[in-house]
Amino acid sequence: MEKIIVRGRKRLCGQVKISGSKNASVAVLPSLILSTGKVTLQNLPDITDVRTMIRILEDLGVNIRRRGRNALEFNPARLRGFTPPYNLVKKMRASYYLMGSLLARFGRAEVPVPGGCDLGPRPIDQHLKGFAALGAKINIEHGLIKLAGKKLAGAHIYLDVVSVGATINLMLAAASAEGKTVLENAAKEPEIVDLANFLNAMGASIKGAGTDVIRIEGMPRFGDVDHTIIPDRIEAGTFMLAAAATGGDVVVEDVIPKHLEAVTAKLREMGVEVEVEPERIRVKGTQSLRASDLKTFPYPGFPTDLQPLGMVLLTAAEGTSVITENVFDGRFRHVDELKRMGAQIKVEGRTAVVEGGRLLSGAPVQATDLRAGAALVIAGLMAKGETVLSEPEHIYRGYENLEQKLNSLGASLKRVRDQNPRSFSSPS
Ligand code: EPZ
Repeated sequence: MEKIIVRGRKRLCGQVKISGSKNASVAVLPSLILSTGKVTLQNLPDITDVRTMIRILEDLGVNIRRRGRNALEFNPARLRGFTPPYNLVKKMRASYYLMGSLLARFGRAEVPVPGGCDLGPRPIDQHLKGFAALGAKINIEHGLIKLAGKKLAGAHIYLDVVSVGATINLMLAAASAEGKTVLENAAKEPEIVDLANFLNAMGASIKGAGTDVIRIEGMPRFGDVDHTIIPDRIEAGTFMLAAAATGGDVVVEDVIPKHLEAVTAKLREMGVEVEVEPERIRVKGTQSLRASDLKTFPYPGFPTDLQPLGMVLLTAAEGTSVITENVFDGRFRHVDELKRMGAQIKVEGRTAVVEGGRLLSGAPVQATDLRAGAALVIAGLMAKGETVLSEPEHIYRGYENLEQKLNSLGASLKRVRDQNPRSFSSPS
């Protein structure tokens, strides 16, 4: 069992290049099976979720050639089937995008029901409602979602919930449906815009991505495309909040500042100096952080994925801060771990009250999901003493070379194999 040892009281200083977006990549990869031409993708992050998705595509019969460390060429002309392998699908929720893309390509899809996650219940009712509106027959049995719809027909779909996943899945299914589809109350995340640009480049007709009304004209076939994945705004935000939390001075490079406006605004509100240039942002920490309330919302609001990092930062701000998690029901699993490090946090439903201004102390902690894991690493950098993080594989799912990047900024992280994998609570 692997662990990461984090030495405390480290200021992060220097420049860091941000990788391609995990959430754009795990949407673009399953979508490429709509094409019968050649698909080249650049700036793909080398992370576990991308590797898993690539294995799923290979299993479906996609021919893949490496073009560089973060560049791959795909030939999806001859696919073997419409049932991705359960052992791979269960590793990653985003594999449910294959419902939309297989339906669009084959008129059929059989995808395992996605697992829950440590963010609380994660229903897919809006996805299924949209597929049915497009004319697909849906049957859920033996843990499989079976979709059939040889001739999908465009529809006017109103999403009851602003959902990134449902917006993406329905864009895919509608891309080859007969006629027009309108998605109302659609999510506006930059990853959705990136996907729409990718699909339009291969021949789709999608307008309005990035707004809450997306119009799709079904097209009969899709061809060649060469696409570069946008930078990962959540990775960039992670480093920005880490720079502020450690009182450091960090430049994040290869970013799109517009995607980070909510994070920049919140940092400035807390008294942190943020310099914005066309493709880079500099964050200079301050010793006197101001407490601030934090509310997560769908884009362009403060991203839920950075809420754990925002919470860690607020533990260092003098005073009381109230965090409201408006996107997920159960996204406070990291609170118990932070309390083991001495954080003063009280959770009531979707609200967490943080009493800041006390130095955290290093402790053995456990990553419960990708972003909570990253937040605990940053907490370890701030704390006095040593923090040992177990289950770091959550982090490797979505951050490319996180330890190397942090260590290049002055952190001291070390991966170790745990010889006697006993739980921390047992006496050493
Ligand atoms: C995507 O998840 C991201 N994952 C998440 O990032 C991110 O936190 C989330 O969007 C919100 O921004 C990927 O892009 C792979 P949603 P998704 O559908 O699509 C409810 C990370 O760390 N809902 O926008 O699953 C749902 O329960 C991950 O990178 C329904 O009720 O999120 C939630 O409360 C974590 N019915 C809310 O909507 C549905 O049919 C938003 O979920 C679908 C969703």
